[in-house]
Amino acid sequence: MMWSKFLKPYFATYRDGSKLIKQNHSTAVCNNLSETFPEEPCGPCIKTPIPGPRTKQLLEDLNKIQQANSTSIFVNYDKCAGNYLVDADGNTYLDLYTNISTIPLGYNHPELLQVFNKQHELRSLINRPALGVFPGEDWPARMKNIINMIAPYGLTQLNTMMCGACANENAFKHAFMAYRRKMRGNDNFSREEKDTALLNQVPGIPKLSIMSFKNCFHGRTLGTLSATRSKFIQKIDIPAFDWPCAPFPQYRYPLEENCEFNIEEDNKCLAEVEHLMDRWCRKGMPVAGIIVEPIQSEGGDNHASPSFFRKLQSIARNNNAAYILDEIQTGGGPTGKFWCHEYFDLDCPPDIVTFSKKLQLGGYFSTEDMKPQQPFRTFNTWMGDPGKVIILEKCLKIIMRDKLIENVCSTGKYTLECLEQIQSDFCPTIHSVRGRGTFIAFTAETPEKRNEIIKRLKSKGVWSGACGSASIRLRPTLMFQQKHADIFLDILTKVIQETRCPIRKSGPELSPCNIDKDKYRVPPPDASTPQINLKDC
Ligand SMILES: Cc1ncc(COP(=O)(O)O)c(C=O)c1O
Repeated sequence: MMWSKFLKPYFATYRDGSKLIKQNHSTAVCNNLSETFPEEPCGPCIKTPIPGPRTKQLLEDLNKIQQANSTSIFVNYDKCAGNYLVDADGNTYLDLYTNISTIPLGYNHPELLQVFNKQHELRSLINRPALGVFPGEDWPARMKNIINMIAPYGLTQLNTMMCGACANENAFKHAFMAYRRKMRGNDNFSREEKDTALLNQVPGIPKLSIMSFKNCFHGRTLGTLSATRSKFIQKIDIPAFDWPCAPFPQYRYPLEENCEFNIEEDNKCLAEVEHLMDRWCRKGMPVAGIIVEPIQSEGGDNHASPSFFRKLQSIARNNNAAYILDEIQTGGGPTGKFWCHEYFDLDCPPDIVTFSKKLQLGGYFSTEDMKPQQPFRTFNTWMGDPGKVIILEKCLKIIMRDKLIENVCSTGKYTLECLEQIQSDFCPTIHSVRGRGTFIAFTAETPEKRNEIIKRLKSKGVWSGACGSASIRLRPTLMFQQKHADIFLDILTKVIQETRCPIRKSGPELSPCNIDKDKYRVPPPDASTPQINLKDC
């Protein structure tokens, strides 16, 4: 709706799309997802203050042996089901954050629980190989299978890695190597290059850079941390490369009322990208790669138009820089396409697409041009994990069979429309509702109000995530349905009503008895009872 209006001139699916999406478009109806999780609770149930006594004790224990203050709750994974998370104190939450957006099919999906019942799969799990040297004989077939199912169009190469940062870190290395190969004309290193490499000196160690964007997040390893620009606490005290940081568009919402401003944002940012490319070139540190998230996630769920991404790609190509799309948070279907960049109608494939999170392990797809000529240049001991690839294969089959991307599109559209209604009723307490698929966010009036909303949602059994300075993001599973959205929307409405009143400074958390549990009870599939929706609130 909002988006389609703003994007109309550009809006089209990626020219050849991924095979997965094409197959899914053939039929429009989702299987009955409710039957997948007969154990899934009807709604949240909060029994203790949060954190509860057992959580507090566990946190104290863990803090004695590590800095554990990032820990929010301890989870009883045996009791979690579908879209619901159960903590160590027995509190049940509707989970809209899903372990930082990593759970594609909900907790304890019955078919995933069976995956290692087969002897071959179990042996692949326990005999974890050093994949770069001793892969199992089924490894090439498994990799081909993954490529056939989900490779972004034009990207024929696949490397698995350990985590998101590890994927980006190695993507940077591919970009640097490809840049040097282009400049040199080949990969025949000179004597001088070989000698100076071990001394950390030019020409063996070239002066090159990676461009990233204000508010972006690409990981916390040493290389990726130089590109990351979201929060000081992630970076402070750690030496960094002198790499350029370009502004990312900061749109005003609703989009259809702010077209002119937003197009101007795109233009200003792209002009600055060109200026920085030129400046770093003159500094003697040309940009060998541009890394960008299709939707800046940790940095605030900041979107940019397809036109922005196409023009950025063109600037990268004109400067021989690799175009790296970080789909670590957006990949795997939450935006309503398997890869978010399919919305951008790029003129040609990006050079590298990195992934992790919903895809179970880190890695990247890339073009043939990005492939190093020699072995051991992007290498580590494990280079991924066959156990995780086996789970990924199963997840992909279920995503296709159960038409989960269609589910994301329909639930996402519904949730977004309802949130727009809430926004119009309660603006400015919340505003700037935005999203693709169920990858949705909105912004609170102030950072304090944002924190208060998240806290109150939690106290009523909804787990959401913070991003940017005052935004709240939703990262549900691909199994998130309208009945779950209704529970969330109902609780959010109550929370916003409370938040508009003066914030209570002390006193007990809102107790679970304040929750009208009957209202959250979901009717059995064939019951005629109407489901709760916003209009009932
Ligand atoms: C867009 C993006 N890139 C990279 C990363 C880093 O991934 P990891 O935490 O697995 O290293 C994240 C993690 O949240 C991310 O959201």
